[in-house]
Amino acid sequence: MRIGIFDSGIGGLSVLHHAKKVMPEAEFIYYADEAHVPYGEKTEAQIREYIDEIIRFMLDRHVDAIVIACNTATSVATKEYRSSFPLPIIGMEPAVKQAKEMYADTPGRILVAATPVTIAGDKLHHLLEKVDDEHNVDLIALPQLVRFAEKGDFLTEDIRVYLTEQLKDYPVDEYKAFVLGCTHFNYFKAYYKEIFPERVHYVDGNAGTVRQLQRKLAQRKVKKSEEPGRTEYYFSGRPVTEKEMERVKVYMRQLDSLTFI
Ligand code: DGL
Repeated sequence: MRIGIFDSGIGGLSVLHHAKKVMPEAEFIYYADEAHVPYGEKTEAQIREYIDEIIRFMLDRHVDAIVIACNTATSVATKEYRSSFPLPIIGMEPAVKQAKEMYADTPGRILVAATPVTIAGDKLHHLLEKVDDEHNVDLIALPQLVRFAEKGDFLTEDIRVYLTEQLKDYPVDEYKAFVLGCTHFNYFKAYYKEIFPERVHYVDGNAGTVRQLQRKLAQRKVKKSEEPGRTEYYFSGRPVTEKEMERVKVYMRQLDSLTFI
């Protein structure tokens, strides 16, 4: 069982981190498209080109399934496109439906944060048409958080200033849930907790995405890996250097210290 997981950068490590925990029988290839991050500020055509290249890369390495650990890439990689490949390609979308269902009995609004591409994309708007009949979901694009995350800045004052400024016109006290609709946003929980009231729940799509991956693999009866736990890391098609691997480890350690839902 070999799983390919990719993102524009280090955000998708949060999906890998969870997958490694709940799927010890699998081996993984993680691909960060560091040459093209951030996707959230590119055109749809550019992002589609990057995705094509990464999927080809994964196919060459005979993975059994691919996870697009990136809401932005998923927002442009339609279901039809994904199903044109001979293996399961699991996408991610902001976990609005999950937040709605989990906190249906709690009064309050839901805020969904994502990249500009995801926020403007048809995919999210179609999802809201389906699940948000009471119109209690607000959207916010936070592209700068992707840059902070890529720099490995998890706890600097600049992040607090940025978030406070971006949220100044939002009814922060009315929220019951904050949906992390970009995998890069997972690293900043400490700041969200300072800005939102204590009762706010943080919802990411990682567990749901990995469950979907497990379902697809079970349907196909994919066998356990011969090298369970083995993980290879690539930055835009080349193996990571030792120094880059140290960087990856810093992110994985940061993820060890966070729990979301
Ligand atoms: N991590 C990505 C996501 O989930 C996108 C970040 C970016 O490259 O802009 O949307």
